[in-house]
Amino acid sequence: MVVLVLSEVAATELNLEESFTTHAGIAHTRWATHGVPAPRNSHPQTSGSGNDFLVVHNGVITNYEVLKETLVRHGFTFESETDTEVIPKLAKFVFDKANEEGDQTVTFSQVVLEVMRHLEGAYALIFKSRHYPNELIACKRGSPLLLGVKELNDDVCNGSAFHDAKFLSKNGNPKELFLSSDANAIIEHTKKVLVIEDGEVVHLKEGGVSILKFNNDKGRNGDSLSARPASVQRALSILEMEVEQINKGKYKHYMQKEIHEQPESLTTTMRGRLLRGGSCKAKTVLLGGLKDHLKTIRRSRRIVFIGCGTSYNAALAARPILEELSGVPVTMEIASDLLDRQGPIYREDTAVFVSQSGETADTLLALEYTLENGALCVGITNTVGSVIARNTHCGVHINAGCEIGVASTKAYTSQIVVMAMLALAIGGDTISKQERREAIIDGLFDLPNKIREVLKLDQEMKDLAKLLIAEQSLLVFGRGYNYATALEGALKVKEVALMHSEGILAGEMKHGPLALVDENLPIVVIATHDACFSKQQSVIQQLRARKGRLIVMCSKGDAASVCPGGGCRVIEVPQVEDCLQPVVNIVPFQLLAYHLTVLRGYNVDQPRNLAKSVTTQ
Ligand code: F6R
Repeated sequence: MVVLVLSEVAATELNLEESFTTHAGIAHTRWATHGVPAPRNSHPQTSGSGNDFLVVHNGVITNYEVLKETLVRHGFTFESETDTEVIPKLAKFVFDKANEEGDQTVTFSQVVLEVMRHLEGAYALIFKSRHYPNELIACKRGSPLLLGVKELNDDVCNGSAFHDAKFLSKNGNPKELFLSSDANAIIEHTKKVLVIEDGEVVHLKEGGVSILKFNNDKGRNGDSLSARPASVQRALSILEMEVEQINKGKYKHYMQKEIHEQPESLTTTMRGRLLRGGSCKAKTVLLGGLKDHLKTIRRSRRIVFIGCGTSYNAALAARPILEELSGVPVTMEIASDLLDRQGPIYREDTAVFVSQSGETADTLLALEYTLENGALCVGITNTVGSVIARNTHCGVHINAGCEIGVASTKAYTSQIVVMAMLALAIGGDTISKQERREAIIDGLFDLPNKIREVLKLDQEMKDLAKLLIAEQSLLVFGRGYNYATALEGALKVKEVALMHSEGILAGEMKHGPLALVDENLPIVVIATHDACFSKQQSVIQQLRARKGRLIVMCSKGDAASVCPGGGCRVIEVPQVEDCLQPVVNIVPFQLLAYHLTVLRGYNVDQPRNLAKSVTTQ
């Protein structure tokens, strides 16, 4: 295997022609948490000259300053601004100490176990050392880690169990082993993976693997390292994704591909979950992962949605329909804010965790906090086997397919659809709501067609992007079902096109934002047909009275009534059932953000400073 050492800066400095004799290598792409992106802050971090220990790290070590002080007192010098650098140095300290004390037989795993004992925070780590050639050790706590297993020329391990140190091919074929924080990185090599759990230490040596479980509970003398770690035996999982999903196909960027595949991703999200029987059979929703918990959810004191960024916005879009159909109060929590406030969570609550990746650190910590407080925890994720999927009591996978572009697009629309189905499932079959329920189910069936229709606005959104290319700022006004669309539309423009953009609740316009309105600042007003329509008409009039530069999103055929006498730019979208309208309305914003980004020459799929899954706090 070739050793690659990647980082944001150093990648360009690699000589990929160089050949290596080692059979174990580590590579890393880094999202800077401590220190600017620069070669000295790139991973692997080392224990110093001689490279006794090298480490790549995903996560954040919260007590690194204390560890650094101690190591400096023992003569170590630090070269980077990273938190990670303490880890290889600590490994060297442990190794040297064991040798000084006469323990020449200290194993690589023992060194790593001792290092882990001192680390606080979240991490997935891979260690390499010149003292243990052709060996790698990986371990994790809080951050995701997968072991991929590929047997060359052979499929012997299909469905086989993982057995400690015996995971050798039956026919002696050579094997490749992969450690990664993300399935996307290994899917082109193998689908067979073992999801590594917190406290586990994976030891790769000469084609063999062993996994030990490290119990972090301190013993009576406070020393847990000496506690004998138990060996782990678990079945391999098969990743449910295809290599094609991580190719761009006919598209230039993943974001573009993911926007355009929404008719299909939504179809997959709904597949097998919506039932529309013959003329006398009711239309119903089946969410297998929730069926044993629906009664408890209906009796909850509150339903609390918890998420970050786009996932939070998706929950906000679904909130009104959940309130309407379930009759249960629904509250919203941004995961980090819930933790900052240590907000109240009760045993009688149902907490719904929404996350594309299922691995977002803030959401995970909020999940831990909510579990401690005894609420029923429901997970809505796009990633089978993710921590949120595993650690919640029950849940629904959104099945949107692999999303690679950092800006979430198809996961957002699939999340809203799943939560609309959740509302239908919780709402049950009360006669008074039957008609409404059936209209929503019909609307869901037809949604992929409506998305195909709205995607035809691609060129129109490109033209609009050309018009807005040099703008500094964009405001988006929405309310009701489309308050979330305003937030999410603005987030898309902000994060990829790097243009300041703000989603504003239209009802708040008079309480401050109106001061910004003049003939230069572009403002999008979402005024599709629903119960808030007349209020939005009034907002448009007030903005026009102040010479606002308006772009109005309205339902097809409504152009004249939203902009009487002309003078605004109008985006007409197909009308659907009100609670599904956010799924349609977000698409023009996604297209606008995409084209603006391309035209402005920015990186579409990996916007500046952002990462796909934010596994650090
Ligand atoms: C924006 C975006 C982020 C994520 C947020 C939560 O396009 O993708 O705002 O939505 O980081 O990520 P997940 O959904 O993986 O928990």
